[in-house]
Amino acid sequence: MSQPNSSIDTFKSGARIVQELAQLNRTRLFLAFGAMIIGGFFDGVSILIVLVILGGAQQVDDGQYNVFHDGGEIFGYALPEISISLNLALVMFLGLLAFTIVIMRFRATQLNLLLFGFANTQRLALFSALSQASWQDIQSRRDSDIEHALTGEIDRITGCAYSVLNFIQAAIFASIYILFGLAISWQMMVSLILVSALLWLGMTPFLRRSARLGQTLQENRGQQYQLISTFLARLKQARVSNTEQQHLSEFREAADNHTSVSQSFARLTATAHGMFQFGIAVAVILFLIVSLQILQRPIPEVVVLLVVALRVALRVQVLQGSAQSFLAERPAWRHIQDLTKRFEKSVAAAPTVKEPVPEIGNCLELKDVSFSYEENETSAISDVTLKIEKDKITALIGPSGSGKSTLVDLMLGLLEPKNGEIRLDGLQMQPEMFASWRDQIAYVGQEATLINGTIRDNLCAYVSEPPDEDAIADALWLANAEDFVMDLNLGLDEPVGERGALLSGGQRQRVAIAAAMLSFRPVLILDEATSALDWESQQVILNGLSHLTNAGTTILLVAHRPSVVLSADNVYVLDNGRIRESGALSDIMEDKDGYLARMIQSEVKS
Ligand SMILES: Nc1ncnc2c1ncn2[C@@H]1O[C@H](COP(=O)(O)OP(=O)(O)OP(=O)(O)O)[C@@H](O)[C@H]1O
Ligand SMILES: [Mg+2]
Repeated sequence: MSQPNSSIDTFKSGARIVQELAQLNRTRLFLAFGAMIIGGFFDGVSILIVLVILGGAQQVDDGQYNVFHDGGEIFGYALPEISISLNLALVMFLGLLAFTIVIMRFRATQLNLLLFGFANTQRLALFSALSQASWQDIQSRRDSDIEHALTGEIDRITGCAYSVLNFIQAAIFASIYILFGLAISWQMMVSLILVSALLWLGMTPFLRRSARLGQTLQENRGQQYQLISTFLARLKQARVSNTEQQHLSEFREAADNHTSVSQSFARLTATAHGMFQFGIAVAVILFLIVSLQILQRPIPEVVVLLVVALRVALRVQVLQGSAQSFLAERPAWRHIQDLTKRFEKSVAAAPTVKEPVPEIGNCLELKDVSFSYEENETSAISDVTLKIEKDKITALIGPSGSGKSTLVDLMLGLLEPKNGEIRLDGLQMQPEMFASWRDQIAYVGQEATLINGTIRDNLCAYVSEPPDEDAIADALWLANAEDFVMDLNLGLDEPVGERGALLSGGQRQRVAIAAAMLSFRPVLILDEATSALDWESQQVILNGLSHLTNAGTTILLVAHRPSVVLSADNVYVLDNGRIRESGALSDIMEDKDGYLARMIQSEVKS
C-alpha cells in the first residue's frame, strides 16, 4: 500500500511515535531519553584522551610529570592556570571513563526496555485486535501478512522508534552548539546555519528516495514471507509433483529483487553520507578562508568556532542519517498500525456486551437465512431453514463447496446472516448473544489442528480443571482413540509435535474429537471431523455419538460422505447453498431418485 511521504506527514509520524512512547511509559521515556542527552555530552570520551593529557605533560622532577595549562584568555575571558600531577590527571580520566561507561550502559538498557516495550505493545495490540475481530475480516487477510507483522517486523519497529529519538537528541545538541556558537560570533554561526540548511535541502531528494525504497523493501519482505509460508504448506505437494524448482525460482526471483533494492538503499545511504561529509569539508574550508583571511579573526577564536561548527555538522549528519533510516523503517510500523486499525474497526463494530442465553432446551432454528461473503456476490447460503433438535443427531450433508461450513459459521455467530433469523428455543439471537451461545458448543473443524504439547495437553485444551483419568478414558473410547494412544510409547504423555504433525491425520481428528467430548458442553458440532478416518473408525465414532445424545448432548454432524448420515435422526441435504431435502433418513430415502438416495448409491458403487 503506498503511503504519503511529505515532510509534514513524516513529522506527524515521528510525533505520533513519541506520543505513543510517552503513553506507554512516561518514566521510561524520560529515563532513556535523559540518558541519551547526558550520554551525548560524553560521546567523545575515549582512551584517545590520554594523548591529549600527554600533550600537556612536562617533567617537573626525576620521574615526576605534571600536566600544565598556562591559562591565557579567550574572547576576553581568562582561562585558569592548571598544574596537576600526571598520575592525578590519569586517575581523573579513568573516573571520567568509568562514569561514561555507566551512563552508556544505563542508556543502552533503558533504550532497549523502551523500544522493545514499544514494539511489543504494537504487536500485542495487533494480536488482541486479531483475536477479537470479526471472523469474516480475519478470513479476508493473508495469514502470512499477519505472521510477518507479528514476528518479522519487530526489529524494524524498534529501529523506527530509535531513529526518532536519535533525531530529537541530535536536534537538541545541534541547537545547544548553535547557541554556544552564536555567543562567540553570531555572523559566523548564522552563516553556518545557512550552510547546514543548504546541505539539508540538498539531501531532500535522498530522503524521498529512502522513503520509496523503504516501502519497496517492506513489500518485498512481505512477498518473501508469503512465498515461504506457501512453500512450507505445500512442501509435500511440491516434492511429489516435482515442482520444488518452481518454488525455488519464485523465491530466487524475490530474493534477488530484495537484494537489488537493498543494494540501491545501501548505495543511496553511502552516497548521501559521502556527499554530506564532502559538503561539510567544503563548508569548513570556506569557513577558514572567510574567518582568517577575509574577516581576519584571531586563530584561538577560529579554533573554538571550528570545534563548535564541527560538532554542529556532526549532529546535522546524525539528523540526516536518522531521518533516512526512519523513512526506511517506517513502513513496518505503518503496516502494523494499518492492520491493527483494520481489525480494531471490526472489534469496535462487534457487540461489547455478552448477553447470556439459556442452555438449549428444545432446538436451534434457522429461518430463511441467506449469506454472501462479498456485497453483490452470489449467495453462499440462500433461504436456508433448518432445525437442530436437542439430544438428537442432525446431519448436514452436501458436496464440497455447497456451503456447509459457511452455515456452521452462521450458527456459531462467526458470520452474520444478510437475511433471515436464527432462534434458540424461539428466542431470536442477537449479535451480543452468540458469545454466550458458543460457551455451550464444542466444535471440531475440518482441519484438526492440535497444540504443540502432549496428547493429554490437547485433551485438556478446553477445560480449566484437568479431567479425571476415567473421563479421559471414556472420551478416548468414544472417539475410538483408546487403542492408538495406548500403543504410543508415552501414552497420554506422548508429544504430538507442531500442530500435531507427529500423528496421522485420522489420529489428529480422533484426539480433537475426544478433546471436544471432554469439554462436556451440551452441543457438539463436528464439521467433517471424521473425513480422514477409515469407514470402520468412523462407524465406531458415530456409535459413540449415539451414546452422547443419550447422555444429553445435541449433535450437528457435517459431512460430504453420505454414509455418515446413517446414524442421524434428521438429515439436511445442502446443494449450492440451498436445502434440497430434509427430514428423517428413512423418509428422504423413500424417494429413490432423490438427491441423497443418488449420493448414497454412488458412494456404495465407488
Ligand atoms: N472466506 C471466504 N471468502 C469468500 N468465499 C468463501 C469463503 N469461504 C468459503 N467461500 C465460498 O463459499 C462457498 C461455500 O463454502 P463452504 O466452505 O461453506 O463449503 P463446504 O460445503 O463447507 O465445502 P467443503 O465440503 O469443501 O468443506 C464456496 O463457494 C466457497 O468458495
Ligand atoms: Mg467445509
